Amino acid sequence: MTGSALRVGIHDLAFATAHQVLDLGALAEHNGVDANKYYIGIGQTEMSVPAADEDIVTMGAQAAAQILERHGADGIRTLLFATESGIDQSKSAGVFVHSLLGMGENCRVVELKQACYSATAALQFALGIVARDPREKVLVIASDVARYALDSSGEPTQGAAAVAFLVTADPALVEIEPVTGLYTDDIADFWRPNYLSTALVDGKFSLAAYLRSLEGAWSEYRDRGGVGFDQIDRFCYHQPFTKMAVKAHDRLVTIAGAGLDREARRAQLDASLEMNRRTGNSYTASIYVGLLSLLEHDDADLAGRRIGFFSYGSGSVSEFFTGVVQPGYRAVLRVDADARALDDRAPIGFPRYRRLHQDVDAVAGEDYATAVETPGPFRFAGVSEHVRRYERTTHA
Ligand code: COA
Repeated sequence: MTGSALRVGIHDLAFATAHQVLDLGALAEHNGVDANKYYIGIGQTEMSVPAADEDIVTMGAQAAAQILERHGADGIRTLLFATESGIDQSKSAGVFVHSLLGMGENCRVVELKQACYSATAALQFALGIVARDPREKVLVIASDVARYALDSSGEPTQGAAAVAFLVTADPALVEIEPVTGLYTDDIADFWRPNYLSTALVDGKFSLAAYLRSLEGAWSEYRDRGGVGFDQIDRFCYHQPFTKMAVKAHDRLVTIAGAGLDREARRAQLDASLEMNRRTGNSYTASIYVGLLSLLEHDDADLAGRRIGFFSYGSGSVSEFFTGVVQPGYRAVLRVDADARALDDRAPIGFPRYRRLHQDVDAVAGEDYATAVETPGPFRFAGVSEHVRRYERTTHA
């Protein structure tokens, strides 16, 4: 091959979350613990809580609609939907989004699953498609509602959010570099059996497994010719809760022998934690919510700077890779809209949160219609004849 290498990566990145919020202080009060255990100890202040007519499809569609509004749907021939809170065992949630957004029929649509990792699998598959034919554009959606049993230790690490990103040649936001490090390990740290709507987790074991995977993925990344730690300016981790990213970065600094003090370590990381601290865990989306948070909240000009990504999905599969922020990236961001998506959520009290949590299981297998609650552009209208029904709202 002659000429310069094809540059591929993330051209645009959009965010959505559920339209209600629970302050974790209310959960702390219910549990009789100091709120700082959640605010500081696990690094979460709030969690987004979906209304009965919101789910992974409505959030994913709201994120993707912003991409299509700007770029149109022309040329998007692949839609990859990453989730681990799927709403059907057979049909991709992406097909519902494809329909809600009125996308063209000449499109392949598929759902990917491997716990919180699968949006990164989608990104890598998308890069491959674009590298083979630079005319291709791939829309990736990552959308999840993190749910644990009421009164379980995982309960403060619930949440909900979605991202959508467009993968193209000559990307305007972040060029993804080719070297990656991978690590797969068959373990039972976090999983959700088919008969449960809430995840099971061995919390402390999952934290240790995450750190071991980081070590394995980083090691392979370096063996395959990845750059040294000192050539990476910022870091973006999967965030089941933001303190996990802090622990991970401390571990990476140690593994890499970087010898950075606390302030220097936090400067490489902190901006990526702002949004997740408020959405709560969004499983597949969380690392890319972290990327958006980094780009929007870091005061430095990040153009030309390299970001290190660590994506982890329990069970487990993980990957370390890097990307370079593109000149002019700030013009791509939707800073005000993303702030509004968080600030404008309706605060709910603890009883309503509990009722919504319990109601998810109450109606399985029956026809039902949901009340109109979401102020968002798309809603889940209910189930009839076992088929989930979605519709645009009057806000669309
Ligand atoms: N003020 C400040 N910090 C406090 C505190 C207070 N009043 N009380 C406790 N803490 C700190 C603890 O020291 C601890 O911090 P550390 O881990 O840095 O030592 C942190 O708060 C959590 O306390 P802990 O006792 O470990 O909480 P827990 O047993 O309730 O479990 C998780 C916390 C995160 C393990 C649990 O919520 C969980 O399992 N979540 C799901 C994890 C997950 O998603 N895993 C899969 C994907 S990786």
